[in-house]
Amino acid sequence: MSTRGYPGTGQAGALQATKKLRAQTHPMRYTEAVNDARPMHNLALIGFMGVGKSSVGRLAAARLHFELLDTDGLIETLAGKSIARVFAEDGEAAFRAREREVVRQLERRRDLVVAAGGGLAADPDNLVSLKTHAFVVCLWASPEALWERVRHQTHRPLLQAPDPQTRIRLLLAEREPFYRQADLLVNTEMRPVKDIAQLVVQHFRLAQRERA
Ligand code: S3P
Repeated sequence: MSTRGYPGTGQAGALQATKKLRAQTHPMRYTEAVNDARPMHNLALIGFMGVGKSSVGRLAAARLHFELLDTDGLIETLAGKSIARVFAEDGEAAFRAREREVVRQLERRRDLVVAAGGGLAADPDNLVSLKTHAFVVCLWASPEALWERVRHQTHRPLLQAPDPQTRIRLLLAEREPFYRQADLLVNTEMRPVKDIAQLVVQHFRLAQRERA
């Protein structure tokens, strides 16, 4: 994966700032995708269940004075019931269809921090859609760390399995190639949420500035 800056900016200062930030924020890295000239009106957070998208999203939205939008929350509003009930009564395929609908609606929005459901980015069309308007950041953690974060929670249908730890490992392995297509990948282990939010916002602003 590339660790190059955003080419084509022609702004030595901005590149310098990017390098400095990058040096401070290891381990994280940029993918090639950030290099294309595309609008970045919004910030999208993707990554596995329990990685901290909502907590980081809340802080990032406050810093940016953006609205925080949770795709699961939107689906619950559309469906008029909880995600657990959507899964139980309508099935996962119906949930994914709702998720795709919600993703399309975001294309017209601005000044949003989007906290995406954990499986949303595993649909390549969703990822393509997010990248038409957002800087896409993947929050990352190991299966072990994720298990520690979700083990006492009961609201996620996909983790109500006989062996949830194996479910996490398998799902994460399946989704990793998609998560790695984010513009920026941030390891959330050993970092306080507030530092992660700050990092994400700094990189979002840099990416936006280089497009101005
Ligand atoms: C899912 C993650 C959940 C929610 C649904 C399915 C997944 O969101 O969208 O339960 O497939 O990983 P969170 O990542 O916010 O828990």
